[in-house]
Amino acid sequence: MDHSQIANPAILPSILSADFSRLLEDTADALRLTRQKIIHIDVMDGHLVPNISFGAPVYKWLRPKLKGVFFDVHLMIDEPVRYAGDFANAGADNITFHIEAPEVRDDPVRAAKAIRKHGTTVGVTLKPGTPIESIYPVLRHVDLVLIMSVEPGFGGQKFMPEMLEKVRKIKPKLKAHQRLEIDGGINLDTIAEARAAGVEWFVVGSALFDATDRAATVRSMKAKLNHR
Ligand code: DX5
Ligand code: ZN
Repeated sequence: MDHSQIANPAILPSILSADFSRLLEDTADALRLTRQKIIHIDVMDGHLVPNISFGAPVYKWLRPKLKGVFFDVHLMIDEPVRYAGDFANAGADNITFHIEAPEVRDDPVRAAKAIRKHGTTVGVTLKPGTPIESIYPVLRHVDLVLIMSVEPGFGGQKFMPEMLEKVRKIKPKLKAHQRLEIDGGINLDTIAEARAAGVEWFVVGSALFDATDRAATVRSMKAKLNHR
């Protein structure tokens, strides 16, 4: 499935913040509320980021139960090319790699092409401390740019507004088919400024899954997105 079928702007529930003891039900609940067929899946290897989440063997069980839902897989791992096939076979529709990953550092263009060969779209992302210019060489080879607005590794962190500078810088360089996504600390207080900076896809983890009233939270987020 390609991402052109995903309406813009889109809210992407980050299932890292879901209740893993009922991962399918909690993910389905989030999708029922956003009414958009897309989720964000955070894979962490404990090397690129100081946390270990889950891999393809886990979310492959969600794939047949969530037909037609776009799986946006965010690889926070050292070797995204080595494992891209496993994630594609487990049902990823998009695979986003980190420009800082040791395996891709010398040749991110080769990495983007190698990942795409598995039949998914490909995205590139960067940590807050990495300058936006670092992704320019690979820009025309990706379908998506993900701007990290927290230090990757954990949900529930504070939004870093200075990352919106990267959004504003990269936005004019993107083609119509390329999506601009933000990830980390998106909530009712931060989503509007991210939208105003030009973001189209909004990853939301703790602000959705930990909300006392999820429906009200999603309704308010959608209202903020549709009022520029
Ligand atoms: C952090 C992950 C994010 C995170 C978002 O490393 O990439 O996707 O789960 O969670 P919140 O929305 O709580 O910051
Ligand atoms: Zn993520």
